Amino acid sequence: MTYSAETQVLHLNAQYPEAHLIKQAAERIRAGGLVAFPTETVYGLGANGFDAMAVEHIFTAKARPTSDPIILHLSSRHQLELVAKDIPQLALQLAQAFWPGPLTLVLKRQPRVPAIVTAGLDTVAVRVPSHPVALALLKAADVPIAAPSANRFSRPSPTTAQHVLEDLDGCVDLVLDGGATSIGVESTVLDLTQAIPTILRPGGALIEPLRVMIPNLQIKQRFMGAEESMPSPGMLLKHYSPNAELMLFTGSDDSKVVAHMQAIIQRLVVEGKSVGVLTSEEDHPYFARLPIQLVELGPRTDLEMIARNLFAGMRTLDFLGVDVILVKSFVQEGLGLAIWDRLIRAAEGKVITIPD
Ligand code: TXA
Ligand code: MG
Repeated sequence: MTYSAETQVLHLNAQYPEAHLIKQAAERIRAGGLVAFPTETVYGLGANGFDAMAVEHIFTAKARPTSDPIILHLSSRHQLELVAKDIPQLALQLAQAFWPGPLTLVLKRQPRVPAIVTAGLDTVAVRVPSHPVALALLKAADVPIAAPSANRFSRPSPTTAQHVLEDLDGCVDLVLDGGATSIGVESTVLDLTQAIPTILRPGGALIEPLRVMIPNLQIKQRFMGAEESMPSPGMLLKHYSPNAELMLFTGSDDSKVVAHMQAIIQRLVVEGKSVGVLTSEEDHPYFARLPIQLVELGPRTDLEMIARNLFAGMRTLDFLGVDVILVKSFVQEGLGLAIWDRLIRAAEGKVITIPD
């Protein structure tokens, strides 16, 4: 059964959100309702993090398995002790340096956090978002807000209020429309409960500055390199996926990769398939003459723009009804690690490496 509601949309000023609208949204949260709101990464589907029933509604609205724990959002790092215990010094230093911002810390859970939030784990994921609408809502609601990305389970994360409505209209009480989000990929998830601090999900907070504060930082190697791309199928959660099959291409000789993609496109078209390509500005000309749907993400060196446009690009191609989406990989540094992670998950781990 899904959570049903008459969905109301409020348009807010993203920089200076109107106090009376925020108050309305905060009251919905406090009353146990579901409110979708913009963060700097993606839109979140929020509920009172201390209200187990409200959090349960998040899972039903998203059709998300209850085995997948949810991030708690706080208005300030000074609230950490409300939800976490035995907080290490490193967490306080990271919070001071990176919050508000796109870094999620996994810490030991305070027993008062309902088990449904953390899928029964004794750890809890927390972050303080920097988006003015998210911060204003958190302050006004005065409770931690549990919020996963506001997409239906296994759809690409929403970067606009329109995306939220596409997936969740009628399943959420209120959508706060604060325009498109600025980062476009989700937060970096960093687990501080293991012997060695471990990145569980690369995201908006970059690895390089984190490493300065955490010299022994380790990255969970699930999807990070092409050589890692064929683990057992059970490890490959179909996440961030468009409806179409996504084929991810990589290789050090750019022109060979492009030629291979062109050949595959031609074959797919002959087979009667509708084909989409997510491309950089530079590669656009190589695909422009083919009978395909082409979505340009930005210049390949501008990883911020690529990240911002990535999920929206997948949704556009889904909307156009393509059967297959082809993408050439981007550099795996800075935000490129998060971009690679989202692409390889959308491709369900299948990477096509073109030899030199
Ligand atoms: O940027 C973001 O993180 C967005 C915005 C709305 O804040 N939220 C988001 O939530 O992406 P979600 O639920 O789509 O992804 C949360 C990730 C999942 O991979 C989940 O497994 C992991 O965080 N996670 C949550 N709690 C955890 C825990 N206690 N231990 C390990 N991983 C956890
Ligand atoms: Mg998500």
